[in-house]
Amino acid sequence: MKNNIFLIGTHWGDEGKGKVVDVLSENAKACVRFQGGHNAGHTLVINDKKFILHLIPSGILRNNVKSVIGNGVVVSLDALITEIIELEENGISLSNKLFISESCHLILPTHIALDQARERRLGKKSIGTTGRGIGPSYEDKISRKGIRLLDLKNESIFLKKLDSLMEYHNFILENYFETKCIDTNSVARELLEKYHKISKYIIDTNEYINDLCKQGGVVFEGAQGTMLDVDHGTYPYVTSSNTTLSGVVSGTGANMSLIKYGLGITKAYSTRVGHGPFPSELNNDIGNKIGKIGGEIGATTGRTRRCGWLDLKVLKKSIRLNNLSGIALTKIDVLDNFDEISICVDYGSINYETFEVENLKFIKLPGWNESTVGITKYDDLPKNAKAYIETIENLADTSVDIISTGPARSEIIQKINIFDA
Ligand code: GDP
Ligand code: IMO
Ligand code: MG
Repeated sequence: MKNNIFLIGTHWGDEGKGKVVDVLSENAKACVRFQGGHNAGHTLVINDKKFILHLIPSGILRNNVKSVIGNGVVVSLDALITEIIELEENGISLSNKLFISESCHLILPTHIALDQARERRLGKKSIGTTGRGIGPSYEDKISRKGIRLLDLKNESIFLKKLDSLMEYHNFILENYFETKCIDTNSVARELLEKYHKISKYIIDTNEYINDLCKQGGVVFEGAQGTMLDVDHGTYPYVTSSNTTLSGVVSGTGANMSLIKYGLGITKAYSTRVGHGPFPSELNNDIGNKIGKIGGEIGATTGRTRRCGWLDLKVLKKSIRLNNLSGIALTKIDVLDNFDEISICVDYGSINYETFEVENLKFIKLPGWNESTVGITKYDDLPKNAKAYIETIENLADTSVDIISTGPARSEIIQKINIFDA
């Protein structure tokens, strides 16, 4: 039986998860999202065409792969329908391919308004959220007043829940944030209309996912990254879900004993979008050069991503926290034209007021000044590129099993088949 695999971003998101999931999907049976929402932006490049997926798993472009949105994901019906339409317009059929958990919590327009109002109020201390209502939706889930997809099945129950929740939201919007209320009746009408368009995809995913796992070849696709985890990340500059291993279990109900391989997705350098500490950040020409070559512009919000050298301390933490079996190192090609490449190997405590860090330590390695773009065999990599990869393996005590050498599907080195590992 093929391994079931979970895949998690090791840093602050945007490590290239979508690209790697798309590659792995060639040999997968199913692909499952377990947390986050449409704050995610996963980019796939197929025959020069770019697809950015926010909610639907990145296996969707493969004909024989089932795509499952697990119970841990928060769903905006607007975002979901927009994405479904975009895929259908590109000739991708979703029937009998897309399955959404009836336990997913909804993102309401008031969640979005609250997210944005709170960010405005925080001013310089804002989190830099994607403004998509993710935090407020998870808050309502945890405080047991959220609305789930299954609530929409029964119109009168749904209307009662929506009324009471939006009354509360509107009270805060009006009286605390001194901003406009949102009309409950029109939200109710729109949600019911949209629900009827997608209700055919809704099932009890827990049983389905466990059945798929028994057959093997399931890829659990993380969103965001380890340092954005609400418990283990750079709190409060995090997202509102468990982006780490525990999210796989709570966000799907999968039996962990059936999942044999954990793949960390690590970019060859580090980036962060949004505010918060970023110890290895390069506020200089080198950082700008990395960002420019790497095209480091947010796939969801279009914001410029902050760039820095690879943060190895974070990588080690991520390997430990997620019990990772190996790493996919992405965007190695972005470092092709540097005389010297550094790795941030350690630092002391982080000051969460100033984001300053004590005792930053780096090691320097020679660059390779040769193109790695599109290389598919490890032995074909330049000597210094191999030395860079092997240094990461040694320092982090891990194995780099996959290396991505460009945005396209074919630009990949798979040292081993992780479905058999
Ligand atoms: P995700 O959120 O982790 O799926 O990552 P994003 O899609 O937000 O950002 C990764 C970006 O890097 C996208 O534009 C990808 O097309 C691109 N990308 C992925 N892998 C590679 C690679 O190996 N080399 C280069 N140059 N770009 C890559
Ligand atoms: P993918 O899956 C990078 C960041 C936001 C902000 C913080 C909280 O594409 O890697 P939120 O809207 O979630 O409440 O914002 O988290 N963030 C991401 N950064 N990649 C993502 O997703 C992100 N999703 C959220 O920028 O700092
Ligand atoms: Mg992204």
